[in-house]
Amino acid sequence: MAEAATGSGTAGGTITARGAIAREVGQPASIEEFTIDPPGPGEALVRILASGVCHTDLSVKNGVFGSDFFPVLLGHEGAGVVEQVGEGVANVAPGDHVMLAWRAPCGACRFCLDGRPHLCAASLNAEKRMRSMDGQTLTPVLGIGTFCTHTLVHAKQCVPFDPALPPEQLSLIGCGVMTGVGAALYSAGVKPGGSVAVFGCGGVGDSVIMGAKLAGATKIIAVDIDPRKLEWAKGFGATHTVNAREGDPVARIKELTGGFGVQYAFEAVGRPETTEQAIFCRDLAGTCVIIGVAGPKSTMELALGRFFDLGGILRVSWYGDCLPTRDFPMLTEWYRQGRLDLDGMVTRVIPLEETEEAFHAMERGETLRSVIRF
Ligand SMILES: NC(=O)c1ccc[n+]([C@@H]2O[C@H](COP(=O)([O-])OP(=O)(O)OC[C@H]3O[C@@H](n4cnc5c(N)ncnc54)[C@H](O)[C@@H]3O)[C@@H](O)[C@H]2O)c1
Ligand SMILES: [Zn+2]
Ligand SMILES: [Zn+2]
Repeated sequence: MAEAATGSGTAGGTITARGAIAREVGQPASIEEFTIDPPGPGEALVRILASGVCHTDLSVKNGVFGSDFFPVLLGHEGAGVVEQVGEGVANVAPGDHVMLAWRAPCGACRFCLDGRPHLCAASLNAEKRMRSMDGQTLTPVLGIGTFCTHTLVHAKQCVPFDPALPPEQLSLIGCGVMTGVGAALYSAGVKPGGSVAVFGCGGVGDSVIMGAKLAGATKIIAVDIDPRKLEWAKGFGATHTVNAREGDPVARIKELTGGFGVQYAFEAVGRPETTEQAIFCRDLAGTCVIIGVAGPKSTMELALGRFFDLGGILRVSWYGDCLPTRDFPMLTEWYRQGRLDLDGMVTRVIPLEETEEAFHAMERGETLRSVIRF
């Protein structure tokens, strides 16, 4: 889209933007103005068009990861338009519509050099040059910050998309959808005909369901505690549903799989009990993928004998082991072809002022994704 463009358009000075900032753990985010310095070398200033509200933003705001890095500019699932680029930027140019990725492989760390850029340990970010009006340096969530009119990112975090496509839907590829679909395709490597259980049917879990369906899984068991979520999960491809409030979900999954359990289990809640259930609902030699983020204080006990006897694989999936430059365009095409239901994922479109209400709606289980539209 912008192959020919080389860095230019940095004429502007510091700008004033508006966004949702978490200043104190557990307190409502405040909608305030903040300043952004012009993009430095390799950076891009992006005007946000839309941003999904992911559970990770709620966890950050609630202090699950501590508060040393507060104040925080919330949001990390965004789509927008590049307004300015810094020196040396060649992958995007002003005017490009882009999805924002929280992984931009550096090309130089031990994982990148080892041919595993999806594990990059030094993912590229812009320098921290966004500041509150009272002069505090803001930490953008996952190096992005998208609950705001503008943000400063590393240009390599920008992945262009066709401006004819709706930014509300496309923004969701930036985190939840990519994470879920990638967890099924890459982290687990679901095979055609496979059997799958997904614990937690929010935006991420339903994306696992879509990924498993795309991979050709024939049995996809959705597990949640909310009947509305289970109903929605069917729309994304779940073949069976289990309400974990109505009995032991592991026993129910065994019943649904001839007594054996599933070949692939996914945890997309972020709790010890669902992690344990995801581990033990597998058939022998099955794969369990942890996606939910439990946070540094969470612990669990594991029956090691049972765990050993099951064999198989237990692994964590960061961002669905994706490579945004390869995978965002693929998911975009699947959306265009009607194979990836992003429309069904957008439960509500809201203004920035309703960010706090979007968190409450998520807690009440009313949304898969609220999308803030600017
Ligand atoms: N690994 C990654 O790279 C990555 C990326 C994005 C999000 N996440 C994490 O994934 C998790 C899910 O995110 P989301 O945005 O889909 O959240 P969400 O709040 O939309 O969905 C969570 C779902 O879990 C369900 N749930 C709660 N308790 C349950 C239980 N005991 N049994 C079964 N279901 C239960 C809820 O009803 C809800 O439907 C969060 O922990 C988030 O931080 C991880
Ligand atoms: Zn790297
Ligand atoms: Zn997220």
